[in-house]
Amino acid sequence: MDLIDLHPEPADIHQLVLEGMARQPRQLPAWLLYDAEGSRLFEAICEQPEYGLTRTETALLQSTAPALATALGAGVLVEFGAGNARKVGPLLEALRPPAYVALDISADHLGPACRELQTRHPAVPVLGICCDYTQLHQLPDHPLLAEQRRLGFYPGSSLGNFSPPEAQELLRQFSQLLGPGARLLIGIDQPKAVARLEAAYNDAAGVSAAFARNLLVRLNRDLAGTFDPEAFAYTAQWQPEHSRIAMALVSRQPQTVQLAGRAWSFAAGEPLITEYSVKYAPEAFLSLAAGAGWRGAGRWSDPAGDLSLHLLVTADS
Ligand code: AVJ
Repeated sequence: MDLIDLHPEPADIHQLVLEGMARQPRQLPAWLLYDAEGSRLFEAICEQPEYGLTRTETALLQSTAPALATALGAGVLVEFGAGNARKVGPLLEALRPPAYVALDISADHLGPACRELQTRHPAVPVLGICCDYTQLHQLPDHPLLAEQRRLGFYPGSSLGNFSPPEAQELLRQFSQLLGPGARLLIGIDQPKAVARLEAAYNDAAGVSAAFARNLLVRLNRDLAGTFDPEAFAYTAQWQPEHSRIAMALVSRQPQTVQLAGRAWSFAAGEPLITEYSVKYAPEAFLSLAAGAGWRGAGRWSDPAGDLSLHLLVTADS
């Protein structure tokens, strides 16, 4: 087990926050949600009864792992945003790749997750890379990555955090990073009944709301902010014209906060977007992927049709 740390510098985070606060509406990069406490809260979201995505996808990966392994073929498995790395197990068993590489933004979670995985799968060498994978244009030099075909694994519908143009750019970047003969196994959540979608992102126990408010706690700590998290109401709304859930912290009253060395005013009702979660029907996703040079080579869905695992291959292969 080996670890490489490429986490963004505080100065880069400062700049990203200034840019996000200048947007209209204000919107910060979703990966800022995943400090140590945010990663812990996200895991708690995955266990809420309203949030079925993780359970459904984990069961689908379990039941289809042999077929997925056959379709993927040989290569180093590279997971984007591995988090606690608890989804990849069945795939590692079925695929027995020459190495598994976990990319994740949360340094505190990546080390323990990789160690645990290495213990459970002693035959597969594990490499963890702490980074913002949207900014990673090539994999670092490492013996485990030399001259091997690469297979991308991007579960959890995390692509939904990006706008469609950003998502397309990211898919293009993955194909460049993975290189010749690349394949990408990607989990995509689909549009479904509005009540189910909105409940999934605003659970009764309040974990989703705490996850969003923790962003303000993090900004207070890392960028000398003065946010009162309770002065913002959490909302999660389905926006059908964009096929997405918009998650926001809405200012309950006119207020001014200090952040990153500046004063920022919020009007009553003004939102700070914490993240979007775009949902794609299979055809819509495949057309997005085609624009990034990928073509669909297989699709597996849960019986209810809530989400799909798509296997993509580069268009010229
Ligand atoms: C990690 C982006 C896939 O959009 O479902 C869940 C994030 N935020 N609940 C999602 C999330 C609040 C999640 N992704």
